[in-house]
Amino acid sequence: MVIATGRINLKLKTLKDLKGPKGYPFVGNIPRLDVPNIHRQFEDWSDEFGDVFRLNLGFTSQTVVTRPSIIQHIYRDRPDGFIRAKKMDSILRDGGVHGLFNAEGEEWELHRKILAKGLDVKHQKQFYPAMLKVIERLYNKWSKDAETGEPFDIQRDLLRFTVDVTASLAFGIDMNTLEQTGGAIQDHMDKVFPMIFKRINQPILLYKYFKTRDDKDFDAAVAEMNKLIDVFIQSGKDKIKANPALKANPSNVLEAILNAAEEEGDFGTKEVRGNLLTLLLAGEDTTAHTLSWMIFLLTQHSDAQEGLRTEADEILGAHSWMTAYDLQGKLRYTDATAMESMRFKPVAPGMLFQATRDVVIEEFKFVEGQKVIIQTRAGAMKEENFTEAESFNPKRWLKESRCPIHNTDASSPFGGGARFCPGRNLAMLEIKMVISMLFKNFNIEMVTDHSDIREVLAFTMMASDYKVRLSKRT
Ligand code: HEM
Repeated sequence: MVIATGRINLKLKTLKDLKGPKGYPFVGNIPRLDVPNIHRQFEDWSDEFGDVFRLNLGFTSQTVVTRPSIIQHIYRDRPDGFIRAKKMDSILRDGGVHGLFNAEGEEWELHRKILAKGLDVKHQKQFYPAMLKVIERLYNKWSKDAETGEPFDIQRDLLRFTVDVTASLAFGIDMNTLEQTGGAIQDHMDKVFPMIFKRINQPILLYKYFKTRDDKDFDAAVAEMNKLIDVFIQSGKDKIKANPALKANPSNVLEAILNAAEEEGDFGTKEVRGNLLTLLLAGEDTTAHTLSWMIFLLTQHSDAQEGLRTEADEILGAHSWMTAYDLQGKLRYTDATAMESMRFKPVAPGMLFQATRDVVIEEFKFVEGQKVIIQTRAGAMKEENFTEAESFNPKRWLKESRCPIHNTDASSPFGGGARFCPGRNLAMLEIKMVISMLFKNFNIEMVTDHSDIREVLAFTMMASDYKVRLSKRT
């Protein structure tokens, strides 16, 4: 059956009608793919071959879509019409990630119900005191850095901050990686996304037959993470045993997951571990790299820094950080700066989907099983979607200073439809806590030359290593 939606067009284009980069015999475009930079290549090819083009992978082809209206349609046609690509699911499961991000159908509904509830505003408010402890530690660390005036790796602190927040909110556990001096769980986590991304881009999954040293390191990292997750599980079980009221009324995601494992037949050990791993991974990199990109952009825009300072002074008053949860609603310019930063530097600039049935969207027909890569930034940087799209202007996200052209469909950093990111509110809360604390208390200077900082795609799009220097605001 063909589901026809949007504008009906009699001359429907299928995969074979699409233009695309010229390929070599048998291997197509594979030799030309620059994997850590593939998102940029797709953006360039979209300019050259159109906002829906064909990628030739030798024996198979995929469609790359950058047109915002089609991307939004795909988002909304889930969970039924499009799923996350089966290859990605298989790779994630081999890495022990058997959770909400890659579940489909009824399994997805069950996982979503349990996880989204634990991340909601009620739980964020309840665990805000624990998050305050984490922001205070970050403030203390940065105060010391400001005293010494030495350049330091702020990305490391941001990764530790986000893991500590996720663990306190979702698992009720104070991990305190921020104050650990040696290696921390991040050393293992750092290996997971790059390897998953590398495997997604391999035409043949060689690791299924032969393991390289990198594959073995990856397995060891996942095993270490699972050891930690087992400690979380035991602590959650102990708390429920000590307080059986938590069965009817779990206080966090971990307890909700453990209760589900007892009640729902389909929710076993794999699902418990897989979802805890999903939360750790999804909550760490995305938010930390978004903050890191904000710092990269803000250190080039002193006017935006000034706006953040003025707002932090006004809203935080005599305090050094956001002492009350509700203050976040007042940090409107900070919110706008995050939205503008994510338009320039979305940490998830692409996603891989697969059609579950024949679908017509605008003038294109996607057939059952067809793989579709969506690329969001190409549209976000076009004049047809944002006035002066190339200029960094946080105010465009404020109602009172909106620009004439402002197509929010073209910048959707958290995805869309039923599968939009359930951690969105938590991520925005963390961003506001960190950015308001930073600009309330410190001046920040980029030490690494901005032009030496590159985009590196390894599942999420992160900034290559850089150093900053802090000084205390007088
Ligand atoms: C700035 C930070 C973040 C960004 C930019 C981001 C972005 C995204 C995107 C683009 C998706 C895919 C959505 C879709 O398919 O439509 C997603 C899914 C997801 N995110 Fe986030 N995310 C962030 C933070 C978080 C946090 C803090 C958590 C939890 C602690 C989280 C948990 C998840 C989960 C579990 C999914 C899978 C949802 C599903 O498939 O139903 N994310 N995120």
